[in-house]
Amino acid sequence: MSTLNKNPRIIVALDFPSAAPALDLVSEFDPKLCRLKVGKEMFTRLGPAFVEKLAGKGFDVFLDLKFHDIPNTVAAACAAVADLGVWMVNLHASGGTRMMEAARERLETLSHRPLLIAVTILTSLGERDIAEIGFHGAPADNVIRLAKLAEDAGVDGIVCSPLEAVEVRPLIDQDFLLITPGVRPASASLDDQKRVMTPLDALNNGADMLVIGRPITGADDPLKSLQAIQDEIAAYSWS
Ligand code: C5P
Repeated sequence: MSTLNKNPRIIVALDFPSAAPALDLVSEFDPKLCRLKVGKEMFTRLGPAFVEKLAGKGFDVFLDLKFHDIPNTVAAACAAVADLGVWMVNLHASGGTRMMEAARERLETLSHRPLLIAVTILTSLGERDIAEIGFHGAPADNVIRLAKLAEDAGVDGIVCSPLEAVEVRPLIDQDFLLITPGVRPASASLDDQKRVMTPLDALNNGADMLVIGRPITGADDPLKSLQAIQDEIAAYSWS
């Protein structure tokens, strides 16, 4: 973990309905400039072959499937993800300690071991939403509680908003990864994101890597947009 190279710190979220526009975009990028995230939509439409194609081009791929099931099933699914040559995989911390430990233990037996990341509380959920499903208190308090549970289960980090990263960072190990979506360059549209930070602020507030989609994928010149963000965080990233 401590030897992990956090650069490049930008993970581009490939949220496209088909392979062609995603592959066109990726053909402009270099694995030294960014990593790639594939989520449920693209994986469900295009399957493992698409993921293997991206990995085959030399990109680190974060397969964002957010597993949540019985420990044996999640452990087996994580092993299947590892076989695709994926760099990072995730599960829900609310699946519990035994589920997270089972996934971690299974991955530890493999020669290629993807990083294992836990989702704490989805940023789409407010206090009333989480109360409905039996969580008490503010979302941020639950994020902290689940972050600690994930750390104790030996996973490598969590996904959280940059605003939560500020609160979580002092309470967990420095090597525990904080992966943050909800990042917007100052000049970009917010799209449907509400609680956002600029890339540099997110890093200064404790994030290790940034998931950024539409400010790059929807730009007239995606490579230029990616490079502009890299320039913005360069002083932080390579120091
Ligand atoms: O386009 P945008 O930068 O908003 O994309 C952010 C990506 O991060 C999307 O793939 C979205 O599903 C994901 N994400 C998020 N908020 C979370 C978890 C994941 O925006 N809490």
